Amino acid sequence: MKIEFYKHNLGKDEKNKVMECLDGIFLTTGSYVSEFENKLASYLNLQYAVGLTSCTAALHLSLLALGIGEGDEVITTPMTFIATATAIIHTGANPVFIDVERDTALMDPDKIESAITERTRAIIPVHLYGQMCDMKKIKKIAEKYNLKIIEDAAHCIEGEREGIKPGQLGDVACFSFYATKNITSGEGGAIATNNKEIADKVRMLRQHGMSKEAADRYSGIYKHWDMIECGWKYNMDNIQAAMLLPQLKKIDISWRKRKKLYNEYVKRIKTISGIEYPKIVSKSKSAYHLFTIWVDKDRRDYILHKLGKSGIGSAVNYRAIHLLTYFKNHFGFKRGDFPIAEKIGDMTISLPFWIGLKNDEIKNITETIKTYL
Ligand SMILES: Cc1ncc(COP(=O)(O)O)c(C=O)c1O
Repeated sequence: MKIEFYKHNLGKDEKNKVMECLDGIFLTTGSYVSEFENKLASYLNLQYAVGLTSCTAALHLSLLALGIGEGDEVITTPMTFIATATAIIHTGANPVFIDVERDTALMDPDKIESAITERTRAIIPVHLYGQMCDMKKIKKIAEKYNLKIIEDAAHCIEGEREGIKPGQLGDVACFSFYATKNITSGEGGAIATNNKEIADKVRMLRQHGMSKEAADRYSGIYKHWDMIECGWKYNMDNIQAAMLLPQLKKIDISWRKRKKLYNEYVKRIKTISGIEYPKIVSKSKSAYHLFTIWVDKDRRDYILHKLGKSGIGSAVNYRAIHLLTYFKNHFGFKRGDFPIAEKIGDMTISLPFWIGLKNDEIKNITETIKTYL
């Protein structure tokens, strides 16, 4: 038996669209990217989206577009992928972690105020596993202290909480189309926002800070361009967008399929003592990005090992990142700083979760865990 941790669901529609793109003349950022940006913005009920090469790039450019830099502080969570914090570091600012809620693993908004100093400029809530943070509470605090909000929505295109979607209360939301994400181009990302200034700035910074992108320059007659700022090379290309367009069209169908798998897992997990899993809060719609369980910390690595030996793919999303060597060495973090994130990080196992996973495979996975627990 072999059950992969993740298998993509790209098929005929995506292949046809990519072939159509390859038959055209324009491979870099062009009409496919614009179409994807318009459709993504409209799916999110936001005005602007800008296609990028990753969510890391999206976080980095969002911070820069909001003027965050050297010596500033940005509050975020240690229960995330390292990119949330490295994007802050790349601007010259410092990540300031706060602990998470025990039942959801999301940033605990009640811990934000005590972390605010005169250098705090922004908050990056992470909508972990597909569930949105309490954006209403976070927004209130941001308004009180005049802080910007950059939402890390790498896991959460389809999510909602109290009728609010990513990017609607924050200044900007950042998305990932990495190989295992809900829609994917292998690598890819985007920002979405209602703020034209942010969208324009990110658009310029994604392409070296140039005044014109290749598509703007392509008109048969050569047009001069200028360099306005020192930017990066983070532009999404037409091939990536071609892959994403059919997936965006089917996004709600795919979401319903993952919801079914989630329910199947929950039905089985509930019958096994010694397993917890993150709670989905009321009035919220999870994007169902990962299926993560929590087991006793002394048995976590043993279970990971046994799953691997049984041919079942697994991962850890995530160990609390302040305990990784770089963060300990550079910022002096230590065990005990964020006890809830540490506890969850020591207990976490992410199980196979992708469209195409069969109910009997879920049965197999959960029974394997039961045996070894
Ligand atoms: C929570 C979170 N933020 C940011 C990222 C970075 O995304 P990307 O790989 O598109 O740069 C990831 C990627 O896994 C993530 O899980």
